[in-house]
Amino acid sequence: MKFDIVEPGIYPELIYPAYKSTVKRGPSQPMLRIQAPLPVTENITAAPRILLPNDADLTVHGDGEPLGEKIVVTGRVFDEDGKPVRNSLVEVWQANSAGRYWHKKDQHAAPLDPNFFGVGKMLTDDEGRYRFVTIKPGPYPWGNHDKAWRPAHIHFSLFGNVYAQRLVTQMYFPSDPLFDYDPIFQSVPDEGARQRLVSRFSLEHTVGAEMLGYEFDIVLRGRNATPMGL
Ligand SMILES: [Fe+2]
Repeated sequence: MKFDIVEPGIYPELIYPAYKSTVKRGPSQPMLRIQAPLPVTENITAAPRILLPNDADLTVHGDGEPLGEKIVVTGRVFDEDGKPVRNSLVEVWQANSAGRYWHKKDQHAAPLDPNFFGVGKMLTDDEGRYRFVTIKPGPYPWGNHDKAWRPAHIHFSLFGNVYAQRLVTQMYFPSDPLFDYDPIFQSVPDEGARQRLVSRFSLEHTVGAEMLGYEFDIVLRGRNATPMGL
């Protein structure tokens, strides 16, 4: 089963047996075309009032500094023609530096950090740029197979400006040794597309002696689309 809104090889296989839960949840019947309840070209307007003052700094929500490596992540969001996607909602969520999510379903043997909850949101600016401050997440085990550890990653949800631009994906960090063993990363067939999920270290965006910078541009659709990452 394939998506038809991007070139072949960009989006992950919906049923990828090495990623076990896709076998249970992947569609077993051919897709049907339906009339969408709203046109997929309907404008989505993100109201700035949904943003709280510290939503773009995940390190300031406790009584003290969270543990781990403080980083800044920034990048631009583009449409299929390479034009910036402005004023669009970007949400992020992630594990803490020990690889543990602040979620009752995550009970693996790593500590929670009382100063880090791992969620944030922001709007893109007139250049399509987003920026947030966080802690570099740790890898974590997920039980898919023997010695299954996810490469460090940050989850992204992007609304774009129209429904057809909706994208949920994951950002990875450069040179992670776990890429070769991760069926979620490997479920994207095209090597070039997989590399579009990997952020770049950026000296330009590094902030003095405070935090290293990572840059991650996102293309919502088209031939150069950033793959979906579920
Ligand atoms: Fe995750």
